[in-house]
Amino acid sequence: MATALCPGSFDPVTNGHLDIIERTARHFDDVIVAVIRNPQKTGSLFTLEERQELLHECVKHLSNVRIEFFKGLLVEFAKEHGASSIVKGLRAVSDFDYELQMAQMNQRLSGIDTFFISTSPQYSFLSSSLVKEVARFGGDVSTMVPPVVAERLQGRFVQEA
Ligand code: PNS
Repeated sequence: MATALCPGSFDPVTNGHLDIIERTARHFDDVIVAVIRNPQKTGSLFTLEERQELLHECVKHLSNVRIEFFKGLLVEFAKEHGASSIVKGLRAVSDFDYELQMAQMNQRLSGIDTFFISTSPQYSFLSSSLVKEVARFGGDVSTMVPPVVAERLQGRFVQEA
């Protein structure tokens, strides 16, 4: 059985993430959405539990996808879960340098290969950070994130205002 990881911070999950997860689920028997517990990026908006809850809601239609948390090295987590592949979305050339470097490092550390899926063009400008910024200032993100996430973002920033 071929298991793949879709890793990330998912703070919060966007339609771009979901597109990659759905497409990965068509190619692998088993997909683990690996949510990092200790991201290098500081200032998470959502707690781990909230991110997990939102992800669960968004992937519930995909029977071969599950959500797990990890900390430390991704490749250690991959080995522990029998995952032979990492799948990432590539939005633009600007993603490429860093993603290639990580893929090569992960390959060197473990032999685990990274596969890149080209982000669907309608999501190529999307990132969790930008979505949060737009939502914080009252912009409409309803076409960029699943409805449950849009609702949660709106609630969060209404509370803050
Ligand atoms: O959604 P993000 O924040 O872009 O995801 C980045 C993530 C979590 C995939 C990446 O930072 C990662 O894999 N971190 C785990 C630590 C690790 O294994 N580092 C070595 C990578 S070469």
